[in-house]
Formats: sequence, C-alpha cells, structure tokens
Amino acid sequence: MIVRPLVDQERIIRELEALAEFSDTPKPAITRILYTKPDLEARAYLKGLCQEAGLNLREDGLGNIFARWEGSAPELPAVGTGSHFDAIPYAGMYDGTVGVLGGLEAIRSLQRSGFKPYRSIELLIFTAEEPTRFGIGCLGSRTLAGVLSPDSLRQLKDQEGRTLEEVRWEAGYMGPLEDVRLPQGYYSAFVELHIEQGPLLEQEQVPLGIVTAIAAPAALRVELEGVGGHAGTMLMPDRRDALCAAAEIILGVEAFAKNSGSINTVATTGFCEVYPNAVNSVPSRVKLEIDIRDVEQSRRDQVIRNVIQGVEQVCTRREIKYSVDIINVDPPAKAGSEVLKALVASCGEAGVKFKLMVSRAYHDSLFMARIAPTAMLFIPCRGGVSHRPDEYASPEDIARGTYVLALTLAKLSLAEDKTASKEDPVLVDD
Ligand code: GLV
Ligand code: MN
Ligand code: MN
Repeated sequence: MIVRPLVDQERIIRELEALAEFSDTPKPAITRILYTKPDLEARAYLKGLCQEAGLNLREDGLGNIFARWEGSAPELPAVGTGSHFDAIPYAGMYDGTVGVLGGLEAIRSLQRSGFKPYRSIELLIFTAEEPTRFGIGCLGSRTLAGVLSPDSLRQLKDQEGRTLEEVRWEAGYMGPLEDVRLPQGYYSAFVELHIEQGPLLEQEQVPLGIVTAIAAPAALRVELEGVGGHAGTMLMPDRRDALCAAAEIILGVEAFAKNSGSINTVATTGFCEVYPNAVNSVPSRVKLEIDIRDVEQSRRDQVIRNVIQGVEQVCTRREIKYSVDIINVDPPAKAGSEVLKALVASCGEAGVKFKLMVSRAYHDSLFMARIAPTAMLFIPCRGGVSHRPDEYASPEDIARGTYVLALTLAKLSLAEDKTASKEDPVLVDD
C-alpha cells in the first residue's frame, strides 16, 4: 500500500496565524497562559477544527484534549500525536502549536489521501506544557503519565495564591483528577512534531531532526528572608539584604553550570521576585526559580547539590533565612526504537535528509515516553530562536515535517503489534 499524504501547507499557516490571535500581548509577541481568556479561546478554536475534521473529541479534568480518528481496530492501543498550545510571556507563535496544528493537518492529509487507519490515530492537545502559571512544566502530560498525583495537583497555587482546583473549575473543567492518568498501553506509539528551538538543523542545512533522547530538566524554588528597611537610614554593617544574597546565589548557579565539565550542562535563574521592590527600600524577601538541565542525569544532579550547598553557605554568611523547594527533578527520556524506525523509514520514503539528535528543551514527550514508545520530529527554526516573539519556522519546513509525520502515523497505525512494524508490512514506495 502506498500512502501519499496530501498536506495543505497554506491551511496550516492560516490556522497558525489564526491561533496567534489568541494572545494577551500584541503581535508578534504571544502570551497564552493556562485557563486565561486567550487559552480558553484557543481551545474553542482548536476543538472546532477537530470537529470539522470529523474527529471524536474528549477532554479530561485538566483540559487535555483528545481528538480521535477511529481506526478499523478501535479496541487496539491508538497511535498518538500532538503538542501544546500555551505560550510563555512574550513568546513566539510556533512553539508547540506546530505540533498541534501539524498533527491535525497530518491526520487531515491522510484523510484526503484516502488512507484508512487500522489503529485509531489520536491528536492529543496538552494542557500547560509551560510552567508559567503553576511553576511546573508539562502539567498535563505529567499528570497523564501518573508522575503528578491528584493530591499534588490539589496543592498547586499560582502567583496570586489561586488553587489549580479553583481555576480549572472556573474554566469549566470539573472532571475528577483521578481520571486524568492514562493507563499503560493506551497508546502503541506517540510522535510529537516540534520546532527545534536550537540552531543545529539550520546550521547544518538538514531539514528534519529525529530526536533520540530528551535532556533531564529540574527546577528549584529558593525563598530568602532578610531584614528590610529604609534605604537611607539602615547602615551597611547592619544590613541583611535578601537581594544581595540572591545576587550571589544567581552567580553561583551560572558558575556551577559553567564548571560542570560539560557544555551540556545549563542552568538559569529565570524568575526573581523582590519584596517590596522599591528603590528606597532594602529588599527583605526574594523568591528565585532556577532551571537546571543536562543530558546526563548524574551531572545535572551534582549541579543541583552544588546550588543547594551554595544557598546554605551564602545565607549562613549573610544571616538570611532560606528555604529550597525542589519543584521537579525529572530523568531524561529515551525514544522508543519502533517509533524511531518508523520516522527514519518515513524520511526515506519522503526523500528527506534527517539528523539524529538530542532535545535540550523539554517537551510533553518527556512524560509520554513513560507510558508509550515515543519519539519526536524536529523542524528547523530561524537562528535557533525560540521563546521570543521573533521565533520563526518557514511554511515549507512546517509542511515537510507534517508530511513526514503523516507517513509515520500511517505506518504506526498499520502496525499489527510492537514487532510487526519491523517488517514494514504495508508501506512500500513504487
Ligand atoms: C520548554 O518549554 C522548555 O523550557 O524546555
Ligand atoms: Mn516552550
Ligand atoms: Mn514547546
């Protein structure tokens, strides 16, 4: 059987542009935070597109959206694809959305080509991959994989002190959190299309990246409490300035990553809240959030230990009270070999060069890999830029990624069981 997906390049771009309208910041900056108005509007728009494509929709208690194209063997584990549509403050319009609308277009392109799925093919649109509102990344997929329990979800509060329970109910998601977790074997395979968010594909002029592993992310929250007061009258020897302690800690974070012995270690203090944040007041309290990652878990864990020790030392010397909370420490993920093979074979059929690579950014696939054989497909983005308004992926690259994704989904849908795809039973080029 020959599968020739008919990808409508103009349509995906039109839809990406329409989705970019749902934002809290003026274009080209996209800000779309969990359960805010733009997030809810984007959900309504995406669900409408899925319905138009004749997919069966379901949503769980967190708002993860499942849109299923039923196959002729609906009782078998389905093949999943998808990504997220939330966006950090002042982000671009391609991070996550390419995998959502590309996933949908891959399904539609197979429908247009007359393909009949054997296993069902399901688009999964994840809730909140970005950590913006509740401080933890991959909220939806983490819960689907059973890594975040309903009890931990109920403890979560946003910056304004509002609980996840409160805001999800307000958004209309009232289903039991106990039902969000997916059973092992729900998917036979999962594939996520995403922009690379790094420069390698563009630099090496390779149109596609097949991701073999995702680096291990971790995040810490550090709270510091010193003594505040009048900036004019508190003399320097009497100061216990929480922001000065934070400054030392932040430089420590940078130094520990730089001195880890590997270029693969990265650490960032991307969030800093100062109280009372007034020019003529000595800072009394500071909250920091620190992101630490590495492709090698043990090296990443050593940096975490160093940072925690650094906080202790700085705070003891400066007489600052402190607490360190570990928000998440996740292991890396390895791609499933059958999914990798399907991607490699699909690139071959499409006549497209690819590069095997590691993802240094995290993705919902980090958690999907815990419950299903999973791999990712990267397309280039200009200058490797992401999490910025000038993030850009070309229509041609998006359409190419979608085409190869569609071929891969077709292959995985036709796989009888986990070993059947080894024989590549159905897709033969003429
Ligand atoms: C995902 O957005 C990440 O921070 O890697
Ligand atoms: Mn992102
Ligand atoms: Mn993303």
